[in-house]
Amino acid sequence: MEKDSKEYLLVQDGDESDDGHIYQSRSSSNLGSKLKWTSLVLLALSILLNICLVMKMSILKTALDTRGRSKYAGLEFSERILYHTETEYSHKNETYAEELWETIDTNPVAITLSYEYARENDLLEPRPFPWDESKGLFYINGFHQLHCLKLIKRSLSEYRLDLPQTLERQHISHCLDALRQNVLCAADDTPMPTLHSHATGDNQAMQCRSWDKLIEWARDPEKDACYRIVDEYKDPVHNLERFAYCSEDSRYYETMTNYFAKWGHKNLFDD
Ligand SMILES: *[C@@H]1O[C@H](CO)[C@@H](O)[C@H](O)[C@H]1NC(C)=O
Repeated sequence: MEKDSKEYLLVQDGDESDDGHIYQSRSSSNLGSKLKWTSLVLLALSILLNICLVMKMSILKTALDTRGRSKYAGLEFSERILYHTETEYSHKNETYAEELWETIDTNPVAITLSYEYARENDLLEPRPFPWDESKGLFYINGFHQLHCLKLIKRSLSEYRLDLPQTLERQHISHCLDALRQNVLCAADDTPMPTLHSHATGDNQAMQCRSWDKLIEWARDPEKDACYRIVDEYKDPVHNLERFAYCSEDSRYYETMTNYFAKWGHKNLFDD
């Protein structure tokens, strides 16, 4: 009895003695095939569970990828940008700050998208794009917001420098209202740490979308509306002149040049 159990233990331990071999060979066909089948079942189960796990992870990954992704350009919150209480744009030298605000480029505001795309993406039907009747004309919200900031900034500068107000009061009111609605829409939840007075959130990291990627999206040749605002602060008389900037490799270049060859150019701001 004692010997048997010793033999068994030896086999278990992988002992290569004759006795062990005998014990093993005696029951190997029965026990071996049981083990083989158990292993196979376990293996199959393991593969199945792994497939489930991989599928679950990929669903989770897609969910994470689309979280916060913008609807049209597909921009993610990929940029970590520090917020500053004061920058060059709030410089005490009003003239200097004004010059800086002037360098903000709002030209990528105008894009053209097909009416089909608009229908499929919950966009209202826009006015037609001048150089392709199958496409509508759109102004990208972010650039319009910057345009509004520039107008408000200009109005304030005029006030501070004791200059007459050159912009329509109603345009400024519209701009403030537009920004109000956009702030509510964005519902930015970044908790800005309270620091000393007027410095709330200074140097706090914000999670942002990439403005450069938005420009890239707007400047894609399919969407680029050949647009230049020319003068941000004046209402145009002949708005079509703002669409006269197709580059030679633009697909609208020929239509545009043909139009102006036939009708000639007009002054954007004069009758
Ligand atoms: C303010 O900025 C303008 C433009 O950069 C500059 O010409 C001027 O000298 C500055 N004024 C002062 C007081 O520093």
